[in-house]
Amino acid sequence: MEITLPSPAVGAEIRGVDLCKLDDATFKQIERALGEYGALFFRDQKLAPEDHIAFAERFGEINVNRFFHPVEGHPQIAEVLKEPDQKDNIGGGWHTDHSYDDEPARCSILYAHVIPPSGGDTLYAGLAAAFDALSDGFKDTLRGMRAVHSSRHVFGRKAATRGTDGLDPYSDGRIGNPDAATQDAAHPVVIAHPDTGREILYVNPGFTRHFEGWTIEESKPLLHQLYAHAMKPEFQIRFHWEPGSVAMWDNRSTWHYALNDYHGHRRYLHRITVEGGPLRAAAG
Ligand code: SIN
Repeated sequence: MEITLPSPAVGAEIRGVDLCKLDDATFKQIERALGEYGALFFRDQKLAPEDHIAFAERFGEINVNRFFHPVEGHPQIAEVLKEPDQKDNIGGGWHTDHSYDDEPARCSILYAHVIPPSGGDTLYAGLAAAFDALSDGFKDTLRGMRAVHSSRHVFGRKAATRGTDGLDPYSDGRIGNPDAATQDAAHPVVIAHPDTGREILYVNPGFTRHFEGWTIEESKPLLHQLYAHAMKPEFQIRFHWEPGSVAMWDNRSTWHYALNDYHGHRRYLHRITVEGGPLRAAAG
């Protein structure tokens, strides 16, 4: 197994492994690399749904997604799909999967079936590197804070006119179940990574609503400052997909952003998300 690090802040490319045939030692190396680098990229894999599920289950229990359309016969796998005639994509903004849950997801594993001729890349940001780059005084202030995250404004009924084309994003069946969007969770703004202990800035533009004890309006300036910082190119990596590519990311230490720059073409992937556990504040 060969690991290369195209960006110092986040992400590693792993070559020389077949995810369908991993011995325990190789799996442990992959698990360690996930904690260390935040996102892992594999090429030329052939994952039947059963293989994808078996690989994911080595990391923990699979979260059956409440909102995404499942792959037929495999409720553990969510479809990430954009058809040539659709305008909005899934995940087209910086976010962390499931930060609105009390026990946010550990990781997500995305496998590419159909990729547009160009475009459709995914960006990842490393929130450990972003936190490390802040001043000591600012870090100390953030360590004492908590933030509230929610699913309601993204997946709930009020999101119905959110689509850039003004259409109800539920109307084409790619996401559904708006009445299940009832999750609100408060987490520390700086968490200790459950596997590595590294300090991570844990707020994201998709799901964080406000700091605990602050209003949404009061929270906006500081949240936007943190977002602008974490979005700096030096904390990012950009992954270009091919059919058979797999990207997996640690939802505690990264954000991701699926670019929507391939109108008129199909993009179709399978995603599994693995359950995590409670998050604890970094001690500093
Ligand atoms: C997602 O947000 O899970 C989708 C990522 C992608 O399609 O690249």
